[in-house]
Amino acid sequence: MRRYHEKKPHGATQLDHLITPHGGTLVNLIIEGDRAAQIREQSREWPSIDLGQRQLCDLELLLGGGLSPLEGFMGSADFNAACAQMRLTNGVFWPLPVTLDIEGVTAEALSIGESVALRDAEGVMIAAMTVEEIFRPDREAEAAVLFGDDDSRGMARTRFLKRAPAFAVAGRLEGLQLPVHYDFRELRLNPLEMRRKFGRLGWRKVLAYQTHQTMHRAQQVETQNAAREAGANLLIHPVVGLNQPGDVDHYTRVRCYQETLPQYPAMFARLSLLPVAVRGGGPNEAMLHAIVHKNYGCTHFLVEQNGEGSVLEVIGAPGYGDVEALDVVSAHTEELGIEMVPAEEMVYAENRKRFVPAAEIAPDDRILSLTGEDVRKRLADGREIPEWFSFPGVVRELRRRRPGRDSQGFTVFFTGLSGSGKSTIANGLRVKLLELGGRGVTLLDGDLVRKNLSSELGFSKEHRDLNIRRIGFVASEITRGGGVAICAPIAPYDSVRHEVREMVQPCGGFILVHVSTPLEVCEERDRKGMYAKARAGIIKEFTGISDPYEIPEDADVRIDTSLVTPDEAVREVLLFLEREGYISAAEAE
Ligand code: PPS
Repeated sequence: MRRYHEKKPHGATQLDHLITPHGGTLVNLIIEGDRAAQIREQSREWPSIDLGQRQLCDLELLLGGGLSPLEGFMGSADFNAACAQMRLTNGVFWPLPVTLDIEGVTAEALSIGESVALRDAEGVMIAAMTVEEIFRPDREAEAAVLFGDDDSRGMARTRFLKRAPAFAVAGRLEGLQLPVHYDFRELRLNPLEMRRKFGRLGWRKVLAYQTHQTMHRAQQVETQNAAREAGANLLIHPVVGLNQPGDVDHYTRVRCYQETLPQYPAMFARLSLLPVAVRGGGPNEAMLHAIVHKNYGCTHFLVEQNGEGSVLEVIGAPGYGDVEALDVVSAHTEELGIEMVPAEEMVYAENRKRFVPAAEIAPDDRILSLTGEDVRKRLADGREIPEWFSFPGVVRELRRRRPGRDSQGFTVFFTGLSGSGKSTIANGLRVKLLELGGRGVTLLDGDLVRKNLSSELGFSKEHRDLNIRRIGFVASEITRGGGVAICAPIAPYDSVRHEVREMVQPCGGFILVHVSTPLEVCEERDRKGMYAKARAGIIKEFTGISDPYEIPEDADVRIDTSLVTPDEAVREVLLFLEREGYISAAEAE
């Protein structure tokens, strides 16, 4: 294992003047040469642990020294010390456990002294671990330090306790390579590369701005002022590890940051991406992040006061906590060795045509403001984002991500009994949309899917739900790509229909159409003779006869084909699509 000693020359003398890494030395766990070749050779026989995205983020930080002085995932002694005293067993301040969590089945299959390959989702081996300890972390104690006792984090706490695997594994870690990233490679500096860059730039004091949101003018002014106040340069250090629900995808965000960067004075700010998976914890998580920034060479860490003025949170990780949380963090500033800089909230005064500190608003100032929700709505409706609020380049990128509804993809999901007319309407709609042109149209009819995607499935609730989930997955991918997916299964269960809505909506539109033709009519039609067979008990678990159909309360359109013709039914769906802005009025005619 190699370490980069900041104090002693080790090919890094130009970095001596930078802030000392946490615990004194910058860890580097990447090995090369014979030992690496030997591990690659021997590992073919080893068991593997496939890492999730969160674990890969932790591993990337560990291998590159972002979590210095940690040299691996924690064993029970460090885990307990971190929870009980916010220290490692060697006495170094450490606010939060960092463990490699595993389920019971994995734990049972491992033994002490054995070598394990740690792999990414594609099976690429990132590191080798020699197992030294398998233990049951005290999750209650971990939750207490992670979330504190603030009620606002109660949900995250409950989710954590429910989902955290029972075991953790620790042992000597030898890295073969950092996790592979194909995107924005030039922006993914590890701690040593970042320090070298600061050295080349002649930056000694650096303010880290950690964010998971897009930056508009207010944030640009805020960060510039804060860095100036601290006499520091600025590192925009956005987290790109694991998106929080509701976050803009990191591809768009990074393009937006690239648009924001030229707004600073020349040579003032830089951008680098941080592989941190935010947990939604409290002040202790903020302090862990502060340590990470320090290891990257930053001397200051920006802390922001939110819009209401009552909540202080580290920028970009809402939920770090309130004023008390900042007190906790401030109380440990010395041990952290990185300074917390409170950001001054800036608001736009229309009469002065500039941003001013919220604390300096005069009674006759005309303050303009837009909430995040306002911005989302404006983008969704294709309305203007005012020039005072953001930079044209940022707005352009956000618009590219979320085009207006008229060019978004969408899914029309028909549900209803067998013989209710779903397929007929779905087919009519498909042809009509193809006639209009502009989007690719894919029909996922119940029968078709059963033949091609779900041929091994039967009609138990479990199998039906799986069938619908598969349809939902394909529909969400089509929608994401800007196409139209028309689905027409029976889909008798409410909860899985909701799941599909949740799956599709982040990718574009989702329209649920209940084909509500009464059972008597469907049975009378009995085109395939199945109802007769179901009545005779030849076909079991037949929807409507011997199996339930849960009527959807959340249908966007309801069509009873015993009352309308197929043409009228198709038109009803088209009119809905027009009202919602997915197609133009002329097209719905
Ligand atoms: S589900 O519940 O959504 O997974 O069903 P789906 O994939 O749409 O498949 C329904 C078609 O399969 C035929 N079939 C049955 N339907 C309901 N219950 C049972 N037990 C059953 N067995 C076979 C039936 O013909 C359905 O086709 P449609 O076109 O709806 O009539």
